[in-house]
Amino acid sequence: MNTSKQRRLDKIAQDITRNNICPELAENATQLVFGDGNPDADIVFIGEGPGKNEDQQGRPFVGAAGKFLDEMLEQIDMDRSEVYITNIIKYRPPDNRDPRPDEINAFMPYLLEQIEVIEPQLIATLGRFSMNVFLPDLKISQVHGEPKRVKGRVFLPMYHPAAALYNGDQRTMLMDDFAKIPSVLEKINEEAQTHR
Ligand code: URA
Repeated sequence: MNTSKQRRLDKIAQDITRNNICPELAENATQLVFGDGNPDADIVFIGEGPGKNEDQQGRPFVGAAGKFLDEMLEQIDMDRSEVYITNIIKYRPPDNRDPRPDEINAFMPYLLEQIEVIEPQLIATLGRFSMNVFLPDLKISQVHGEPKRVKGRVFLPMYHPAAALYNGDQRTMLMDDFAKIPSVLEKINEEAQTHR
């Protein structure tokens, strides 16, 4: 465990509370769901926002979608201790409604700081909201599974596991995209070596 990175992440979580970000969401939520996993991870998964289970437990992706995420990680010989998982919105939106643009904007600086601390090689966005904060004009149906490089960071847009749970086609596409993660990481590593 990288304690210095973990300390910096803890400080970002405290800043969200201290700066009173999205007070209406905070008031209706049980707790902040900041993120979870390895602060030194090569890959960061970014979902939309906490649901009921996440709100209760204080950790991202612990409900049905999280179980599916765990299964897909297992398929590529990874587990949660190696990756880092977070959301664009850190408090559960009432009735699991879609995150609003003002809420996404309010959390954005903290999400960017999280990424800056972890310095992952790859950012896997889960769902269109998460994709669109980094890749605004793209359509997930057209670009899922295709790595995109933006300002030195590599993004891999993927369907959201919760949506894919109830849609057979999306489920297959998400599982296929997930299976590409090891080779995408390998390619990023090779490119980094040749530019060294
Ligand atoms: N869906 C998300 O987008 N994030 C979670 O943490 C859980 C479900």
